[in-house]
Amino acid sequence: MEDQISKILFSREELLKRIAELGEEITRDYQGKNLLVLAILKGAVPFMADLIHQIKIPLAYDFMAVSSYGASTTSSGVVRIMKDLERSVEDVHILIVEDIVDTGLTLKYLKENLTARNPESVKIVTLLDKPDRRKVDVKPDYNGFKIPDEFVVGYGLDFNEQYRNLPYIGILKPEAYQ
Ligand code: PRP
Ligand code: MN
Ligand code: MG
Repeated sequence: MEDQISKILFSREELLKRIAELGEEITRDYQGKNLLVLAILKGAVPFMADLIHQIKIPLAYDFMAVSSYGASTTSSGVVRIMKDLERSVEDVHILIVEDIVDTGLTLKYLKENLTARNPESVKIVTLLDKPDRRKVDVKPDYNGFKIPDEFVVGYGLDFNEQYRNLPYIGILKPEAYQ
């Protein structure tokens, strides 16, 4: 597995340091608010798990699953809800947690879909942002790192469902996906 990684972009230590800063900012901004942390399965799970330790106010967390990618490195542009929330969100401030914003299609769809349910607010925190790849206009409210257009895996990010368990973010060697 690790022999398929050409370079470590962010070590676990670097990730945790940045996540602590994001958590501090979020803690400040959501003081006194009813916060629902909403992680998008499956990529956002490791980030969400570390992030909630750094948000030092009461919160609830939940999950949604959407599908946009097949077994490919490019987006199909089709977004479908595979697992939805089970309760109304009218009384909460939703913070969507993503591992990466790439074309932006997933988040644009989700933000619109959730906004239509009339929550107090909808914001986005992403660990990684790849602005060069954006196809639709969507901007994360909180971003861990801007990254160049390379195929990254680890810490939740997969290629064909593999590499999610790496504790760092690394660049996948082209021979691993070509
Ligand atoms: C990846 C990633 C984001 C989305 C970003 O998820 O975790 O959710 O793609 O791409 P976009 O900005 O082009 O929409 P994926 O659909 O691969 O599912 P996964 O999280 O289960 O890996
Ligand atoms: Mn995802
Ligand atoms: Mg994926």
